[in-house]
Amino acid sequence: DYEGEEIKRAPVVTVMGHVDHGKTSLLDYIRTTRVAAGESGGITQHIGAYHVETDHGMVSFLDTPGHAAFTAMRARGAQATDIVILVCAADDGVMPQTIEAIQHSRAAGVPIVVAITKCDKPSADLDKVRNELVAQEVVPEEWGGDIQFVEVSAKTGQGIDELLEAILLQAEVLELTAVPSAPGKGVVVESRLDRGRGSVATVLVQNGTLRKGDIVLAGLNMGRVRALLDENGKAVESAGPAIPVEILGLDGTPEAGEEFIVVADERKAREVANFRQGKYREVRFARQHS
Ligand code: GTP
Ligand code: NA
Ligand code: MG
Repeated sequence: DYEGEEIKRAPVVTVMGHVDHGKTSLLDYIRTTRVAAGESGGITQHIGAYHVETDHGMVSFLDTPGHAAFTAMRARGAQATDIVILVCAADDGVMPQTIEAIQHSRAAGVPIVVAITKCDKPSADLDKVRNELVAQEVVPEEWGGDIQFVEVSAKTGQGIDELLEAILLQAEVLELTAVPSAPGKGVVVESRLDRGRGSVATVLVQNGTLRKGDIVLAGLNMGRVRALLDENGKAVESAGPAIPVEILGLDGTPEAGEEFIVVADERKAREVANFRQGKYREVRFARQHS
C-alpha cells in the first residue's frame, strides 16, 4: 500500500540438507571468499546471516535456519527464504533429512537449487546422487527437469561461482522486487541479550529501509533503533531490502520468525507491544491451567 519506486532486490537463500553434508562448510567458504574483509580489522562477526556481492548481483544468506528454524519461521507465517540450496553430499547421496528438506521446500513453495557437495572426494558418485534425487522428483535440467544441479566442493572451491550464478538465475525467474523508500519491514532471524549492549536482534529487511533512530515493533517487543551493525560488526546508518543487519535498542528479545515493522508513533508501538504481551501472558496462563 506504500507508493514508491519498485526495484529489483537480491534473493534470500537458505541452505538445507542432511547432517554433515556440508551446509556450514559451503556457507563458510562463500563467506570467507566473498564478504569484504578488512572493514573491521578483518574480523568477521558471525551474525547468522550475511550478504555477498557477485559479478551478477547480490545474494543474501540465512544460515541459522536448519529445518527446525525454517519450520518455526514458517509456522509464524514468515516467508524469509526465496530459494533453498539443497545440499546433498556426493559420497553419501540422499538421506532422510535430504528428503525432509525437499518436503519443507515444497510445502513452502520455495524453489530448490541443488548443490552436490564434497565433489572433491574420491568416493563421490555423481550418477548415484542424481538418480536418488530424481527418485524424489528433483530432476536436473539436463535430464528434462527444471532444477539446476551444481557440483561443488567447499574444500577446493569447485563450482562455487556456478552455484552463485545458478541462484541468481533462479532469482531472475522469481522477479523479486522491493520498494526501498517504504518504511522498513522484515523478519527476525535471531536475537539474544548481550551483557553490555542489551538486546541484540539480527533482522532481515524484506521491504523498505530500516534506519538508525527508527521506532521498531517486533513481535512482543519494541524500541528505538540505537545502532545498526552489518555482518562485519560495522555500524551503518541504514539497511535496505534483502540486507541482514543487527539492531540494538529493542526492549527484549523477539523470537526468530517474528515480523518487525517500522512505525511512526512510539506511543502507539508501546501500546501494541503491551497489548501483545498481555495476550501472550493470557494464553500462557490458560495453557498452564488447563
Ligand atoms: P551439520 O550442521 O552438523 O548438519 O553439518 P553440515 O551440513 O553443516 O556439514 P559441515 O559443513 O559441518 O561438514 C561436515 C564434514 O564434512 C566436515 O568434516 C567437513 O570438513 C566435511 N566437508 C564439508 N564439505 C566438504 C567438501 O566439499 N569436501 C570435503 N572433502 N569435505 C567436506
Ligand atoms: Na557437521
Ligand atoms: Mg552445520
